[in-house]
Parts: sequence; C-alpha cells; structure tokens
Amino acid sequence: MSGLPAARRTVLKGAALAGAAGVGLTACSTGSKGGASATPTAPVDLGAADAVPVGGAVLFRDQKLVVSSPAKGEYKAFSATCTHQGCVLDKVEKTEGSCPCHGSRFDVTTGKVLQGPATKPLPEVPVRATGGKLIAGPDK
Ligand code: FES
Repeated sequence: MSGLPAARRTVLKGAALAGAAGVGLTACSTGSKGGASATPTAPVDLGAADAVPVGGAVLFRDQKLVVSSPAKGEYKAFSATCTHQGCVLDKVEKTEGSCPCHGSRFDVTTGKVLQGPATKPLPEVPVRATGGKLIAGPDK
C-alpha cells in the first residue's frame, strides 16, 4: 500500500520542477525584450564629430551608443546595448566592443557578433554630423 503514494509524490515533484523551468524561461525572454528598446527615440547630441577618429570608433556609454568613422566626414552608429541580455558595452578597442556581463564581442563598425553568447547584431542607429556635432537617432 505504501508504494503507491510514494510514486505519486515522485510524479508531483517532477511536475513542480518542470513548472520552475518554465518560469525561468519566461523571465529570460522578458529580459531580452528590454534590450530591444535600446535605440534612441529622439535625437541625441554626442558632441564634437571629430572626437571619432577615421578608421576608429568611440563608445558613448551614457548614451548607450557606439560611433565609428569609416572615412572622413562619414559616421556609423550602433546601439551599445548588448543583444544578449541588455548590458551596456564597457570597452571599445579599435573597432571591437566588448560586453562586461558575459564576454560577448561585437564589430562596432557593422554591429556583427564576433563572440557569443550574443547571437544578434547590434542594431544600427541613424547618425549625422551637423555643424561639427554628431547627432544620433531619428531626425525629429
Ligand atoms: Fe552582454 Fe550577456 S549581456 S554578454
């Protein structure tokens, strides 16, 4: 008689564990949704355009953006929010940005992932130089 309740308990325990795993997955996907809203919705003033060297890149950590300059007077900007779980990149060496949280690395001139765990590229952000100043984000 005592064998039956024990078996039921085992089944219930298994169900509880499966439930816990489900909760974990939900929390994780909520986190990456937060990272998706990482691009500016209004123009952002990044200061002097010539602070970004030709062939190099500068991290604007407070604005969560990284700007590179492929040629004189040309600029490209990407979100500096890691597409893994939303940490902000903390270092840019030459044109390679790194995330302090789990070590993802990105080519900040293209947004491409160079090293995981991130799998999605950094989203591009419009940027222009106006009167010697860099302005990122939408026009309005
Ligand atoms: Fe950047 Fe995980 S949040 S590597």
